[in-house]
Amino acid sequence: ALISSKEILQKAKEGKYAVGAFNVNNMEIIQGIVEAAEQENAPVILQVSAGARKYAKSVYLTSLVDAAIKDTGVDVVLHLDHGDSFELCKSCIDDGFTSVMIDASKYDLEKNIEITKQVVEYAHDHGVTVEAELGKLAGVEDAVKVAAKDATYTDPEEAAEFVEKTGVDSLAIAIGTSHGAYKFSGEPSLDYARLEKVCELIPNFPIVLHGASSVPQEFVELNNKYGAKIPGAQGVPEEMLAKAAKLGVAKINVDTDIRLAMTAAIRKVFVEEPEVFDPRGYLKPARTAVKDMVAHKMQVFGCAGKG
Ligand code: G3H
Ligand code: 13P
Ligand code: NA
Ligand code: ZN
Repeated sequence: ALISSKEILQKAKEGKYAVGAFNVNNMEIIQGIVEAAEQENAPVILQVSAGARKYAKSVYLTSLVDAAIKDTGVDVVLHLDHGDSFELCKSCIDDGFTSVMIDASKYDLEKNIEITKQVVEYAHDHGVTVEAELGKLAGVEDAVKVAAKDATYTDPEEAAEFVEKTGVDSLAIAIGTSHGAYKFSGEPSLDYARLEKVCELIPNFPIVLHGASSVPQEFVELNNKYGAKIPGAQGVPEEMLAKAAKLGVAKINVDTDIRLAMTAAIRKVFVEEPEVFDPRGYLKPARTAVKDMVAHKMQVFGCAGKG
């Protein structure tokens, strides 16, 4: 069935593991992820960005997710990723999404609270869970000074105030991750002390980690071997994600690793089997690559076997 994220994130928080939230854009990605969840007996969140919704159209994505549920019997959370307005969140709720993220983190605290509250009110009336964000993820690298960290990373006291005032169900925080394939220029590092402080001030509350792809070097090398140009890509090492889950992160977002896994598989076919031009010839291995990568993540996050 389509379920809200309320129970699975509470359970993850209590069990000190994290549920994987994977971005979807098309049929093969949805199938790969849901088949991995079935194989691993893991709870799963499929998330749709505004860009994905524009690319595939909402009705295709909701219908494909319904089909995946019918096909496998797996419970799925259908979540809006980085909703930037009340209107977009409402529209997704009206389309049948069971969870939405309102990302008003670019505004000041007061405005972020105001917009988030508005979304929470509508969502909760419809049995839908809400994720919000506090702090700034983009462009933060390992070399940032403490002062810069304080300006961009999530302030734990503010986070506690934010959760209290908005009634939100989960909160994405900034502790050193960033979106995309270039997360750190030097040694990867996360501000675990900040995460621990947040969890201490807001007990039993699910924390979300965005920008959490690992950018496995095997995928980067495969891509580059078959003609890609993505030198120096670096993500969050898996053991750091496992540690974050133990410390209180209950939802971990992954998109970049799906892109890398899928594209490497497609490039391999193009280079090694140039006679193939049936799309199934390269989309089938791409789907398998997504499935295997996601199944592995579920083990790293500790949610395998918790479905
Ligand atoms: O947070 C960003 C996600 O990776 C979605 O990316 O906006 O290109 O679909 P997108
Ligand atoms: P990555 O770019 O690290 O995969 O992060 C995805 C994400 O946070 C989607 O919201
Ligand atoms: Na999200
Ligand atoms: Zn994100």
